[in-house]
Amino acid sequence: MHKPKYHILVCNSFRMSGEPQGICNKKGAPSLMQYLEEEILDRGLDAIVSSTGCLKVCDRGPAMVVYPHNFWYGGINESVIDTILDALENDEPAEEYLIC
Ligand code: FES
Repeated sequence: MHKPKYHILVCNSFRMSGEPQGICNKKGAPSLMQYLEEEILDRGLDAIVSSTGCLKVCDRGPAMVVYPHNFWYGGINESVIDTILDALENDEPAEEYLIC
């Protein structure tokens, strides 16, 4: 089994009921995930994307985390994702969008 170099978690606001109800989902997390998947393929990055429940940083959403680096990002949109992936290609954080 191949283990990818990066695992990117994108908050999709899932609650215990299974319903996505929170801010990240309302602010477009599903389409951002699709964009992220496409960019990863285009760039040939060795990464997988997973959708998560609330990451508990709702006031900074939409939010995502990049592992194994443990880079936490908020306020993501397509442009921010481009910047984050540009930095990731150099194995660095996109400092301006880190939230913790
Ligand atoms: S709903 Fe995304 S961090 Fe809470």
